[in-house]
Amino acid sequence: MGKNKLSRFAENRTFDHVLQPTFTELRTDGLPLKGRWNVEFFKRDAPIVLELGCGGGEYTVGLAQLRPEKNYIGIDIKGARIWRGARTAKELGLANVAFLRTHVDHILSCFGPQEVSEIWLTFSDPQIGKARKRLTSPLFLARYKEILKPNGVIHLKTDSPLLYEYTLERIAENELPILECSAEVYAELVPRVSPEEQAVLNIRTYYERMWLEEGRTIHYVRFGIH
Ligand SMILES: C[S@@+](CC[C@H](N)C(=O)[O-])C[C@H]1O[C@@H](n2cnc3c(N)ncnc32)[C@H](O)[C@@H]1O
Repeated sequence: MGKNKLSRFAENRTFDHVLQPTFTELRTDGLPLKGRWNVEFFKRDAPIVLELGCGGGEYTVGLAQLRPEKNYIGIDIKGARIWRGARTAKELGLANVAFLRTHVDHILSCFGPQEVSEIWLTFSDPQIGKARKRLTSPLFLARYKEILKPNGVIHLKTDSPLLYEYTLERIAENELPILECSAEVYAELVPRVSPEEQAVLNIRTYYERMWLEEGRTIHYVRFGIH
């Protein structure tokens, strides 16, 4: 393992806002913060927003700056990526940001029923040929439904036409409400929304910047779950 990765892992252990439960801890008792994130961690009552597969946490940190009235948690299995977001959040003095290093499959061990208000899926792996593993598969949507509030929403931002179309099919199949939807975020959606929403949609993640340089089109859908 590279020195860089090791020093990032070491620094993660010093951050109060990076939680790294073991799979055994999650499997036996669940995360102690489950159902208690606002009371015990953020110490204020505010809507909780998750970014799943957050990588360097560009949406987690970007949204925390744009909408400081909400609490944000970036989740990823890779500690070296989470470190980037955690370090930036610390440098910016953001008290409304946490990072959780775990597998998205363990989400029900980490959040209580209706504890979460919004979920962002940013450039998730389209899992070609493995539909069950997609983060908008029926299995994951059922999990999100448990932890989301009745008016909770899910945002998907992706370069993958496969994942975008697949998600639209699951939305239709389950008769879920589409709140916003565009196959061309920058050419079609951004010009017609409010400046506040433009700022949110204009946040670029690490992967998004790579795909934009390759000339790929970015898709977005926001939908309700209940
Ligand atoms: C394509 S990257 C996108 C990262 C970031 N959202 C971005 O747009 O730059 C997918 C991310 O999802 C994470 N990931 C994939 N499967 C995961 C899982 N089951 N649980 C947690 N993280 C996962 C990977 O570690 C990776 O950081």
